[in-house]
Amino acid sequence: MELLGILSTSFLISHWLICIIGAALLSTIYRRLTNSLSHIPGPEISKCTDANYTYNWLNGTVPMYIHQLHGKYCPTVRIIPDQIDICDTDAVKETHKTNSQFSKTTFYRKLAIGNEPTVFSTTDRHFHTHRRRLLASPISNSSLARLEPLIANRVRIAVEKITMDIIAHGVTDVFKWWLFMATDIIGELTFGDSFRMLESSHQ
Ligand SMILES: *[C@@H]1O[C@H](CO)[C@@H](O)[C@H](O)[C@H]1NC(C)=O
Ligand SMILES: *[C@@H]1O[C@H](CO)[C@@H](O)[C@H](O)[C@H]1NC(C)=O
Ligand SMILES: *[C@@H]1O[C@H](CO)[C@@H](O)[C@H](O)[C@H]1NC(C)=O
Repeated sequence: MELLGILSTSFLISHWLICIIGAALLSTIYRRLTNSLSHIPGPEISKCTDANYTYNWLNGTVPMYIHQLHGKYCPTVRIIPDQIDICDTDAVKETHKTNSQFSKTTFYRKLAIGNEPTVFSTTDRHFHTHRRRLLASPISNSSLARLEPLIANRVRIAVEKITMDIIAHGVTDVFKWWLFMATDIIGELTFGDSFRMLESSHQ
């Protein structure tokens, strides 16, 4: 009786496993055949699954992985079934111009703090155009040229701190230093004085 129970349980489990694997296979084939990106070149694996991309993401090697794909295929390469990567300076202008026909993905909404959208997190074109107009003057080419020495100075300190870390410990936390650098620059541009996070090495 007990044996029968175990047998029927394992039968049920294997039954479910077959169903799940079958469904995964079918959905893979479906994604591959019906995807509007299917004519874009890329490795076979990226047409069916994002497994290698995810693996490289976990391994911290996505930039190298994508760079290597550009070398092997062409400026436009399919990196996962529903995502392509484009390495082309003209495409940057086309994609990011004000009246571009390409909208941001919903991923950017995750950058919002709370429910308030910002110029970075919004995917709403009208909201973005409005905010961008308000910011246009300070970030115009001529304003930026005037601020260049101030920004270059902060960049220099950040690079020095990173270098000192590497000399002293063999490793560094670049995220921390870029964050300090950006915060100091924002402080100086917004309030007229830096928070001096770079110099003091803490928040
Ligand atoms: C997966 O990515 C690595 C690079 O990190 C690459 O060397 C390898 O060929 C890729 N595998 C497949 C099946 O494309
Ligand atoms: C994973 O990362 C290590 C260290 O960066 C690298 O040497 C290795 O080639 C990576 N694996 C693949 C398959 O890219
Ligand atoms: C901004 O200035 C740089 C150099 O100062 C120049 O190369 C670039 O073309 C300018 N961009 C625009 C949009 O005017």
